[in-house]
Amino acid sequence: MKIFITGIAGFLGSRIATDLLAKGHEVAGCDNLIGGYLDNVPEDAEFFQVDCQYLNAMKKLIRGQDVVIHTACTAYEGLSVFSPHVITHNTFQISSTVFTACADNRVRRVVNCSSMARYGHQEIIPFREDALPVPVDPYGVSKLAAEQVGRVLSEVHGFEFVNLVPHNIIGAHQKYDDPFRNVASIMINLMLRGRQPIVYGDGQQKRCFTDVRDILTCFDQALTSSAAVSETINIGPDEEFVTILDLAKIVAEVVNFKNLDPIFVAPRPREVKYATCSADKSRKIFGYRTKHSLRESIEEMARWIEKRGVKKFRYHLDVEIINEKTPKTWTERLFT
Ligand SMILES: NC(=O)c1ccc[n+]([C@@H]2O[C@H](COP(=O)([O-])OP(=O)(O)OC[C@H]3O[C@@H](n4cnc5c(N)ncnc54)[C@H](O)[C@@H]3O)[C@@H](O)[C@H]2O)c1
Repeated sequence: MKIFITGIAGFLGSRIATDLLAKGHEVAGCDNLIGGYLDNVPEDAEFFQVDCQYLNAMKKLIRGQDVVIHTACTAYEGLSVFSPHVITHNTFQISSTVFTACADNRVRRVVNCSSMARYGHQEIIPFREDALPVPVDPYGVSKLAAEQVGRVLSEVHGFEFVNLVPHNIIGAHQKYDDPFRNVASIMINLMLRGRQPIVYGDGQQKRCFTDVRDILTCFDQALTSSAAVSETINIGPDEEFVTILDLAKIVAEVVNFKNLDPIFVAPRPREVKYATCSADKSRKIFGYRTKHSLRESIEEMARWIEKRGVKKFRYHLDVEIINEKTPKTWTERLFT
């Protein structure tokens, strides 16, 4: 099958690409390198350094492809209330452009990568796919709006649309020198350099972390599954629901960091306290099964970061709104 992946230099896009190449597919992709790493792109994939915002360029790239997997995004939920301009553009606008190019080229299927941010604050946890989405930040609003545009264009123009909702994915190839997101990678990069982790609020926020190796099969099946068409499907575990402080303890044990004493900073506005997604539907449609524990995922990531080399953090995005609510971690560049 000919598969095009947007955001192929990113964490998820590159891991999907490697997996699908190993399964014998022909893979091409684009990335503008606002995130990700160029060396993430697998050698056997055809790579185009192209920004998804350019419709004509996307139309040309997507011509002749069977399936488009759309992962390109600036997936910064916490930052999105402080840098809504760049984040909504690279979440909503580019998705609309990619889906337009897919419709115009009569692509057979689009697999969209949404986010649990689409659910926002929910009374019932874990979040189920039939819950009414009430996103609470510009990133979640943009993700939901992007899905809706994809769905409308698929109905009008006849391509199949699969909407996958991963959550808190971790693993090797995730950016670890980015001060704006990826809590587990940030903690590993800090502790490997002998620095204390920084925790927003009281650290009692709870999440289920998803090992990327466990969800690659869902993306593979999403290429052909008829049960997945027009569906929204959460992918990831609903078992190991841990606090951010639990996460810090596991990272400290794995990298052998003594005297863990996290630095606490003010909570970030709009951060959802308890967030996890039900995996019932993906168990049913994809036979999803959690195979890696959180500790095993952290071990894989730490090994990869050590091998690639620890790094200083790079403040590569502008903080667009600076006031008393803007986290000090960004205004005072506390991640070094
Ligand atoms: N990692 C997670 O925990 C997680 C959770 C839920 C959803 N998601 C979704 O999965 C997808 C991939 O996330 P990720 O963690 O791999 O992020 P990532 O930042 O590692 O990868 C995204 C890639 O998209 C590229 N990109 C951004 N804007 C672009 C543009 N205008 N044109 C071309 N390329 C562009 C970036 O350079 C980056 O390489 C995103 O849609 C994200 O919202 C991720």
